[in-house]
Amino acid sequence: MKKLSLFVSFLFILSACSNIERNATKANLDIIPIPQKMEIMDNVFNLDNNTVVVSDDEKNQFNATHLQTYLKKLFKSDVLLLKEANDNYIRLNIIDSDKCDDIGLMNDNEAYILNITSHGIEITSVDAAGIFYGIQTLLQMLPNDIFAETSHAYDNIEFPNMRIVDNPRFKYRGLMLDCSRTFYDVEYIKHLLDALAHYKINNFHWHLADDQGWRIEIKQYPKLTELGAWRGADELLMPAYGSGNERNGGFYSQEEIKDIVKYAADRQINIIPEIDLPGHSKAVAVTYPEIVCDIDNVHLSVQGESNNVWCVGREDNYIMLENIIKEMTELFPSKVYHIGADEVNMNSWRDCELCQNLMKEKDMHQLVELQNYFVRRIEKILYKHGKTMAGWDEILDGGDLMESTIPYVWQNSSRGIKSVKAGQPTVMQVSQYMYFDMKQSADERGLKWAGIIPLDSVYSFDPIGNFVLTEEEQKLVLGPQAGLWTECGQMPYYADYQLFPKILVLSEIGWSAQEMRDLASFKKRLIDSHLDRLYQMDFKFRVAPPTVVYEDNKLIVNKEYDKLVIRYSDDKSAPTINSPEYTAAITTDKPENYRFATFYNERPSIARGAQNIDLYHFMKPRTTISSNVPMENDINSLVDYNLNTYCYTSRPVMAGDYFLYTFDEAVKCDKIWAATGHYGLAIVGLPNARIDYSYDGVNFMEGEDFVYDYFDGYKAACYPEKEVKAVRIVVTGIGECQYAILQDLRIE
Ligand code: ACM
Ligand code: ZN
Repeated sequence: MKKLSLFVSFLFILSACSNIERNATKANLDIIPIPQKMEIMDNVFNLDNNTVVVSDDEKNQFNATHLQTYLKKLFKSDVLLLKEANDNYIRLNIIDSDKCDDIGLMNDNEAYILNITSHGIEITSVDAAGIFYGIQTLLQMLPNDIFAETSHAYDNIEFPNMRIVDNPRFKYRGLMLDCSRTFYDVEYIKHLLDALAHYKINNFHWHLADDQGWRIEIKQYPKLTELGAWRGADELLMPAYGSGNERNGGFYSQEEIKDIVKYAADRQINIIPEIDLPGHSKAVAVTYPEIVCDIDNVHLSVQGESNNVWCVGREDNYIMLENIIKEMTELFPSKVYHIGADEVNMNSWRDCELCQNLMKEKDMHQLVELQNYFVRRIEKILYKHGKTMAGWDEILDGGDLMESTIPYVWQNSSRGIKSVKAGQPTVMQVSQYMYFDMKQSADERGLKWAGIIPLDSVYSFDPIGNFVLTEEEQKLVLGPQAGLWTECGQMPYYADYQLFPKILVLSEIGWSAQEMRDLASFKKRLIDSHLDRLYQMDFKFRVAPPTVVYEDNKLIVNKEYDKLVIRYSDDKSAPTINSPEYTAAITTDKPENYRFATFYNERPSIARGAQNIDLYHFMKPRTTISSNVPMENDINSLVDYNLNTYCYTSRPVMAGDYFLYTFDEAVKCDKIWAATGHYGLAIVGLPNARIDYSYDGVNFMEGEDFVYDYFDGYKAACYPEKEVKAVRIVVTGIGECQYAILQDLRIE
């Protein structure tokens, strides 16, 4: 008995030891964003569980606790907070600004010096913000697993003596997240804020209202969230963007918003709320229909929505909007409030009596002047409540703005030039670089209307250098922002995939001096250190897919960096963690059957076949098409077997609608399938439909129901056993959005 218990104790000690890193762990110097100045000196400092945090400033209360939390994870023991210590310390030191010159610190609330001597670590700034950023730099030098749920216990971390002097290039560094098209819960938002804070991004632009959902509780207008926060077959808002038949959505209660705002503020992040006006307002319009122009005509937005624009001539609208804004001011201390103002189809104002009367009264000649009138009314309301207005770059059109109003440039660089030349402080979210919803390579998920935007292209963006500006104009550039629209957000991990690791690029664009920036150095730091940090933080970042070429009867596959493992299948399926590892070129005369994926630990990239051959040999029989649904463009584009041509319906689809494909000659094949929506984007498809097939063109058999797929959108297949004469897509229930997109059949 005794023997056994001794043996158990021995095992226990052994296992406890294996959890401790006995070797001195060296500090990691791969910092993102790269600091302005970093000097390494002789001698070392050992951080261990006797190290104390030193601070005697109230303003550092959060900073000290934040730092202690991570040190506790590092050593698996509490780390003391003292008011003074002479040795083995991390001192958080807020100084008066008149002392800055003496120590070479920039007098900027975000600037800091991190000085490491043999006695300890000192972080100095004029403000809690700078101290917080110094702490983030310090945390990056610690082992990555302090960010994971479970971590090792470390004995000590060895730092070289060093001095970092750092400050941001831009005062504004922002990320926008569209929480209307996809609702992200409080936990996700906080997790994201953790990453923004760690990478020194100081503004979170929260897109809270758009056509597909109103997300902010407003007590005076409860229907906004009772009804306007939900999509589905039985809701006022139709299903959209793959959200499906079931009730889908959600909103943030005022208590949750206050909690998030405080969480962000502690981490030096300002939250800028956006409710998109006067367009993109379907979620309001379905709940309070009186806000839109009282007209019979239908004018669609670029996203295909109708009746989604506030009436400019209806005076009660301004009362409602002021009431909403008043409630928002109790939730969001941000000085800046964003009102959208993008992509308004102004034609409803042309057909509206109230709007037309207003135009006459104010002697306006163009609809865009009416837009400017609306924008300026809101600008005035915000001003009255102590707020500065921001809006998408359309606010530059149709008239002047207050000097303080901030356009957010999205359309292109020339809009950025227009904004600063108009004298407006400007945020640069130029879509060609900073729209993180764009594809990162041709066969990956995402949109591509602003281009295919790999990480390297994002890195090349300079919020000043990309524009021809005078020195005075350059001062008006507040900084960069990246944006994630979430039309394809129903996909698992969509946001993580699109945002990471690109957020780290945004971080360096916004913070680091342009002359310090270098793509190769950035990538090295990213790959050597930060991907693992993101992994430990549990962000499901994009794993760089392999490159695959077929040459001389061989499949040759390459990976972007060493840490990745390439796996493959030879049956067109996506490789899994159990698939064989690719180690050398594969000789084959059936290259179309192979798929390759890279793995970062257990996480796969997208699966890829050879990129230089046509993998898909679909048949192209002569076909005629008919439908009971009116179409926006030529329906024959559905039978040209060109997958790049689509057909849009002119109205929402409904049960009983059909699309009938009839082959001139019956076709012998194994499988016929149809995808709907935009190829590679998966929006605006047929959530409720079935594919039927017929051997004689008269009697039909039922194929599969359409189901949602990552890349192809809603899709369905049938597997004929004889030659097929016709295929029919039958709509069995409500569609998505105001129109549906049909595509050519794929016949294999
Ligand atoms: C936008 O992308 N409509 C701002
Ligand atoms: Zn009107």
